[in-house]
Amino acid sequence: MTVQHFKGRSLLSWLDYRPEEIRYLLDLSRQVKEEARDGAARSRFAGKTLALIFEKRSTRTRCAFETAFGEEGGHPVFLSTQDIHLGLKEALEDTARVLGRMFSAIQFRGFKQSTAETLAKYSGVPVYNGLTDSFHPTQALADIQTLEESFGNAAGKKLCFVGDGRNNVARSLLVICAKLGVHITVVCPPELSPDPDLLALCQTLARDSGARIRVSPDTGEVEGAHALYTDVWTSMGEESQKEERARLLRPYQVNQALMDRTGRADSIFMHCLPAIKGEEVTAELLDGPRSRAWDEAENRKHTVKAVMLATLGLV
Ligand code: CP
Ligand code: NVA
Repeated sequence: MTVQHFKGRSLLSWLDYRPEEIRYLLDLSRQVKEEARDGAARSRFAGKTLALIFEKRSTRTRCAFETAFGEEGGHPVFLSTQDIHLGLKEALEDTARVLGRMFSAIQFRGFKQSTAETLAKYSGVPVYNGLTDSFHPTQALADIQTLEESFGNAAGKKLCFVGDGRNNVARSLLVICAKLGVHITVVCPPELSPDPDLLALCQTLARDSGARIRVSPDTGEVEGAHALYTDVWTSMGEESQKEERARLLRPYQVNQALMDRTGRADSIFMHCLPAIKGEEVTAELLDGPRSRAWDEAENRKHTVKAVMLATLGLV
């Protein structure tokens, strides 16, 4: 496989990618990270432009895309919905058509997955999903890269997501793990279990990859896990449910006692960030030696650079 294989493709969710394609992007991400360490100037995005559309806030995703693209000569343009006519006054498909005439690629962060799909359909350029209510695929790629930095090939390793099993991060982890043969257990209260249709689809994918996928309300399921992963109790856009989420998820806080229940001295803690210390994770754990959250954040940059190089046909 070469980058030409990826040229022109969008990344809306990992459901559209075959396991060997995801593997290729992970290997390219590792290469990009190694290159970043040598300090040499590269300009693979010279002459290219990237639209960065944000309906929701972001620190990591915006900075990862903007620095990865800009440091290699590309021109990123940040567009908040305060600034452009996104679905207001102008049909979304018309905005997409116009952006496609001016930009080499588009990153979209927002609410509906269908907005990312419409941008991809009408712009004619690669669209990268930088988080929607449904999926956060670029995060999941960085997460697998991070897991592999501790344990080697992720296939056959066990990752436990502890928290809101319905959310975008849990959903993307389910898909990428099902495709790559990573055993994933979602530990959550029954009210916050993953969508049954997505789960059924992942179980089908897992038959080919060998992944074991489980959902359980029992925190004892963390036994044997290589990684415990959590995310905020209340995702962006769901603020009205904050109190109910806290009530449901307080027993699922990831802390040292839960890490100890993995029974592995080498198990790691993962978090996509931003984190609310004292809620889904203790400060002690997030800031401690088991935490890989800062590596995950750094890896957002290397992985999105790899995705952009491949889909722009530039390596
Ligand atoms: N993990 C992540 O997507 O962070 P931001 O919301 O800061 O982009
Ligand atoms: N689930 C979180 C992830 C933030 C990166 C949210 O959607 O707010």
